[in-house]
Amino acid sequence: MRAMLIGAPGSGKGTLAKRLVRDFGFQHVSSGDVLRQQMADGTSVGKKAESYVNAGKLVPDEVMVELMTSALKTLETSGKCKWLLDGFPRTESQAKTLDDTFDLGLVMHLDVPDEEIIDRIQHRFVHRESGRVYHTLWNPPKVDGVDDVTGEPLIQRDDDKPEVVKDRLEKYWDLTMPITQHYAAKGVLSKFTGTESDVIYPSMKKFVDGWVIGARCTRE
Ligand code: AP5
Ligand code: MG
Repeated sequence: MRAMLIGAPGSGKGTLAKRLVRDFGFQHVSSGDVLRQQMADGTSVGKKAESYVNAGKLVPDEVMVELMTSALKTLETSGKCKWLLDGFPRTESQAKTLDDTFDLGLVMHLDVPDEEIIDRIQHRFVHRESGRVYHTLWNPPKVDGVDDVTGEPLIQRDDDKPEVVKDRLEKYWDLTMPITQHYAAKGVLSKFTGTESDVIYPSMKKFVDGWVIGARCTRE
């Protein structure tokens, strides 16, 4: 029951993860959300990560591997092995280390054109504490600038500035996209192409419905 979403920045990983959590009860583990929480809490990892994240650069592998494998081990120790990774692994080396610890049963690759992504990110607003994501036109909050659930203000991420988004996309194509081949070779990769999360989601849901039937969570 260990699954992962892989795709470019702004491809809709967070948006689709929320729906998969709602429909299948996955634990959503987003490396970006984990890092932003560490930064907001002012931890030593957060301080180390801040300059990388704000500049759209990848946080060093050893920091990410330690942070994410310990988050996953905590889940597993409490009996939760139905999880959905988002944003990790992002390099060949992270993927290899993750493999040494856990077997992923399903990797869903979101394939969305760069032009669509650049347009979307300009309209993105987020609720910092929960990671809830809005789009001012496509998925607006009920009240302008305010989170639907808590009523707290929404923010724009520092790394969503156009010049930083360009760097993030380059890193994705150079370092992250190639690891899809690693999962294809293991026979666990499925690709979902499109520009509309509302169109991608029904086919993704159907696919996950079929996968969940055969998947087993040994600790559940
Ligand atoms: P992270 O937070 O993971 O950012 P990302 O991968 O760049 O992805 P995003 O969160 O920006 O996009 P998303 O795919 O979740 O899209 P969303 O659903 O929000 O990482 C941030 C940083 O942390 C990295 O740059 C790096 O520095 C560091 N980091 C994280 N993991 C790391 C790792 N493993 N190694 C090293 N460093 C790491 O959707 C985007 C927008 O589009 C939203 O506004 C949404 O409402 C909208 N939208 C979604 N679907 C549609 C649609 N169909 N039509 C219109 N709008 C839509
Ligand atoms: Mg995200």
